[in-house]
Amino acid sequence: MKFKIALLSGDGIGPEVTEQAVKALHAIGDLHGHTFEFEEAPVGALAIEQTGNPLPDATLEVCKNSDAVLFGAIGDPKYDNNPDAKVRPEQGLLKLRKELGLYTNIRPVKAYPTLIDKSPLKKDIIEGTDMVIYRELTGGIYFGEKKLSEDGTVASDLCEYSEAEIERIAHLAFKAARARKKKVTLVDKANVLESSRLWRRVVTTISKSYEDIDLDFLFVDNAAMQMILNPSQFDVILTENMFGDIISDEGSVIGGSIGLLASASVGDKSAMFEPIHGSYPQATGKDIANPIASILSAAMLLTHLGLHEEAGVVNKAVERALEKQIVTSDLYKESTYGTKSVGDYIAHAIVNIDEETAR
Ligand code: IPM
Ligand code: MN
Repeated sequence: MKFKIALLSGDGIGPEVTEQAVKALHAIGDLHGHTFEFEEAPVGALAIEQTGNPLPDATLEVCKNSDAVLFGAIGDPKYDNNPDAKVRPEQGLLKLRKELGLYTNIRPVKAYPTLIDKSPLKKDIIEGTDMVIYRELTGGIYFGEKKLSEDGTVASDLCEYSEAEIERIAHLAFKAARARKKKVTLVDKANVLESSRLWRRVVTTISKSYEDIDLDFLFVDNAAMQMILNPSQFDVILTENMFGDIISDEGSVIGGSIGLLASASVGDKSAMFEPIHGSYPQATGKDIANPIASILSAAMLLTHLGLHEEAGVVNKAVERALEKQIVTSDLYKESTYGTKSVGDYIAHAIVNIDEETAR
């Protein structure tokens, strides 16, 4: 089969890590007789430099005309340190999510047995951790009305949700739980926020049509604590946009490196796949960034295209790299492998998965 993939590498280490994901996709394509055709398009700081716009219309068009989007990273210190910047790279990513209707962000968090000693948490705490965060991605405080008083001394951001916005992601979360450990935890702040109380009402109603799934609730402050105290209690975490942003970074600590965490952002028409990490500007061009999150995002892309066996092979190849310690220095300080050589090994392991697994 032939697939069109929009390649939005973005800023910082984005291009270096997506290059490895592209290699992995070509490798699995060769093996299974699929062709992946990549169309590159600018986004973020690069796009601002070229066009003044962090998401040029042409880039959006490329995404809309593709079977999926592979995204690298976004962000540049030049803008982070300038509170007066009118145009920011992040606006490109937010607009992309909104325009493509990517309302559900799926972030798996897993403790790999081979990396159990890499986590700052104790082994017996993280053992068995296998959760997935379903983060609402096109609503809430990220997209509510923003105001700044004329004299610049008062600012506000509105957190707004509608029933419909909650319903569509809730269905996806319950369906995901059905194929997993059959538990959904809604993370909110219903003791304080009206929008959270709406989430509880809507999710409780929907849960009635998923009687095989257990639903429980946690306030976000408690959830932040439970994620570190007892992460293996979780299966599917369902939450709104900003809470999901925060607890997914927290979740990345469990596995030992944020460089391992992949994500899928899906809507009714489009889907985009990206690491949860940022553009890591200090590492740009140094061949030290961990490409695994991008490669695992490519595996999620394969699953989305219905290529389940192929996704399984990519995941297995990544596991082999972890077992053989063919990884970047964020995981093993003494490692001499760089971004490219880890990507090369994983592409090789994909093609030779049987021999690599037997070894
Ligand atoms: C993420 C990032 C983005 C977000 C930023 C870059 C806008 O942190 O994907 O988690 O907050 O959603
Ligand atoms: Mn984030």
